Amino acid sequence: MNGIEEGVTNIEMYRHLIGELNKLDLAYLHIMNFGNEPLLQEIRQLWTQPLLVNRMGRPLEQLNVDLDNDLADVATVGIWALANPDFIERVKKSASLNEPDLNKLYVGGVQDYTDYPFLED
Ligand SMILES: Cc1cc2nc3c(=O)[nH]c(=O)nc-3n(C[C@H](O)[C@H](O)[C@H](O)COP(=O)(O)O)c2cc1C
Repeated sequence: MNGIEEGVTNIEMYRHLIGELNKLDLAYLHIMNFGNEPLLQEIRQLWTQPLLVNRMGRPLEQLNVDLDNDLADVATVGIWALANPDFIERVKKSASLNEPDLNKLYVGGVQDYTDYPFLED
């Protein structure tokens, strides 16, 4: 879990958690993967609904790796989507992306969350 020291028992914790979450008939599970590949594989097997996987800071060229390896149903993006209001269109067109300004994240207000330019701008 993001920002939480999980300790050595984290796999048992996730086994339990996924088992309990499965009972709730949720639409999907969205997880962040920080490199624990066996854990991701196990979650993929245990979780019965669509799985969304985020890998923080991965390059655009690697977005589909988990989809190709059948480890995720959806690849998610955070900062790229924030900096590119037309992210999907840009990817489809292989257009260049706006560079996100990391110094302006989490500082409050709408400015720099809603004013990145569209392709035509
Ligand atoms: C401004 C901002 C707000 C975020 N808020 C949340 C949040 O509320 N809950 C959450 O699980 N992740 C949140 N995230 C994390 C993103 O979902 C994502 O995991 C993270 O940005 C790393 O992925 P990325 O490299 O694709 O951006 C936030 C990220 C940013 C930049």
